[in-house]
Order: sequence, then structure tokens, then C-alpha cells
Amino acid sequence: MANQWRGVLREYADRLDISDATPIVTLGEGGTPLIPAAALSARTGARVYVKFEGMNPTGSFKDRGMTMAVSKAVEAGAKAVICASTGNTSASAAAYATHAGITAAVLVPEGKIAMGKLAQAIAHNAQLLQVQGNFDDCLDIARDLANNYPVHLVNSVNNDRIEGQKTAAFEVVEVLGDAPDFHIVPVGNAGNYTAYFRGYSEELARGESTKLPRMFGFQATGSAPIVLGHVVKDPDTIASAIRIGNPASWELATAAREVSDGYFGAISDEKILEAHRILSAEVGIFVEPASAISVAGLLERSEAGMIPRDSVVVLTVTGHGLKDPQWALRTADGSDVKPTIVPVDTAQIADVLGLIRT
Ligand code: F0G
Repeated sequence: MANQWRGVLREYADRLDISDATPIVTLGEGGTPLIPAAALSARTGARVYVKFEGMNPTGSFKDRGMTMAVSKAVEAGAKAVICASTGNTSASAAAYATHAGITAAVLVPEGKIAMGKLAQAIAHNAQLLQVQGNFDDCLDIARDLANNYPVHLVNSVNNDRIEGQKTAAFEVVEVLGDAPDFHIVPVGNAGNYTAYFRGYSEELARGESTKLPRMFGFQATGSAPIVLGHVVKDPDTIASAIRIGNPASWELATAAREVSDGYFGAISDEKILEAHRILSAEVGIFVEPASAISVAGLLERSEAGMIPRDSVVVLTVTGHGLKDPQWALRTADGSDVKPTIVPVDTAQIADVLGLIRT
């Protein structure tokens, strides 16, 4: 029988704080592909790999942390979990909670999350509330509720989330045989940036790798508190997943940047969409806009001369393009793509396709 990947808690049981008493709530997350991206290597001269986290069960990297957070919540006797979300955390919390037979309550900013993510949370039976505020308001309230009511918080301020997410770094080191020279991630709350740094630090301490990668994180220009060094009151970007003005893991991420000789940069929405097109049209990987910022960040740093030739670079692309597909249906000038309509006629279709009869 073929080997089946057993989810990150079972695969990395010896490296996570779980025991025989921990009920393992899993949908088979992790084990995602690390894809060599020839088109990006050609553009930069580096050896570029894409860690495609859209291949997780709910279509984002959040599942790695959620299997841990919900398993630990159930172990602690929780009957309900709560989170604030720009969409992916809520989709993941809803799926893992319902799989475990408990309730998920999710708070999302009204009108500001992608349709696919909203549909996922509802499909998985979450109590979804659209809050008349932004993500940062939602997180304040979720923390407040978890402090004062019988609900278990599963945002990344819960360390179990970071612990689960660090397993992605283990997978990269296993596949490459060492840590890369650079690792690039999108940054919202900076939880994933923190998690990769922790995972790579543990690999180094165990002697599985010879170095820490330089950790590069990118925020959208209209939503770049870490880059600016202050809270952004009304964050704005088309990359709704990372529309966050007051990142929960700000201090941890700043410390990780120092130790890894890393970098935080800001990227315009225009450049995000350009990178989105490059990744889907040249590499064959479809992601949501927030994920494309990793590609945009690579191209920007490469143009700035900061990525030496032949460096090994891993980009994490965090969420699947099917969650928020509308961006693929826009042309570079912002107009709608209109697929050509043809009659039921082979000769005419061949003509439109530019095919010449053999
Ligand atoms: N990419 C995607 C697709 C995301 O959904 C998020 C965060 C990030 C990147 C940033 O990760 O917050 O660890 O720095 N989404 C959260 C959510 C906020 O609610 O789904 P981070």
C-alpha cells in the first residue's frame, strides 16, 4: 500500500509538545510540495523554490497551526474555539473544529474577506460574524472573549499555532538537505515569519542544517506597520489576507529578523498583481494576492542586487488562488478579461487558435 502522509502532528510527534493523551485532530495537513520555479530562477539567477501551502486541506498554511491548536484545545476540554480572521484562519478553524465535533466562532471584518474563504467558514458550520471594523478590531474582541468567556483562542497569539506552523521549515530542510540561503514569506500578523524562524533554528540546533536562512518578510505598502515602525490605523491593500495594521507577533518577528540578518519590505498592490500573473502564467502556480507578495519581494530584492547569483531561495506562497480568483480575470490595465466566444465549428475554432491544417 502507498504511504499516506499522516499530518504534521503524527509526522513530527517527537518535535511538538503532544503526548499519548493528545487527541490528534487532523485533516492530513502538511507534506506540501516544494516546487523548483525555473521561470523565477531565470529572472533572478538564484535557485528558486516555491513552497506551495495552498495544497493544504483548506487551501492555506493555517492548517499546520490549526491541527495543533485545535488538538490542544480539545485535550484541554474546550467545547468552542474562537478566532479573528482575514479569511484563511476562519476557514481552517471552522474545518478543524467541526472535524473535532466542537464549535468555531469566527470574527471577520465586514465585507473585507474573499468570497471563497467566507464560503468555507460557512460550509464548515462556523458561527461567522462580520464585525463592523477591521481585522485588528476583530482580534481585540476575540482576545477579550477568550479571556472572559468559555472559548479557546486559536489565533497565532496562541503559541500552539506557531508550533504547528514551524513544521514547514522542517519539510524544506528535509527536501533541500540544508536550510536555504533566503526564505521569503508574506507578513500580516508575522506569525508565519516567526514560525519559520523557529523551525529553522531548531533544525540548526539539531544539526540537520548548517545555517539559518536570511528571513525576508513583505507587507503591502498600504498595510506595512513593521516596515514603517508604527501601527497603521486604516490598513489598505487588495491583498485582503494581510490587511493588518497591528501585527500580533510584531516583537517576535523583529527579534527573528535581527538574528537571521533578515529584512522587512513593502510592496505596492500593482507589483503584487504583476507577481501574481508571473507566478500563474509562467510557473503554473495559482495563489491568492497576499501569497504573490513573496514573488514580488524576491523580484524587488533581486533587482536591488540583494540576492547573489546561485543563492538558494525558498518562497512560501501561503494560500490557494481558488479562494480569491477574481484577480486572474483582470488584465494588467485593470479591465476585465473577456474569453473569446466561438460557434460550434471546428474550422472556425482552428482559425481562431491560429492552427493550420496538416
Ligand atoms: N498569507 C495568507 C494567505 C494569509 O491568510 C495570511 C494571514 C498571511 C499570509 C500572513 O500570515 O499573519 O502569519 O503573518 N492570514 C490571517 C487570517 C491573518 O486571518 O487568515 P501571518
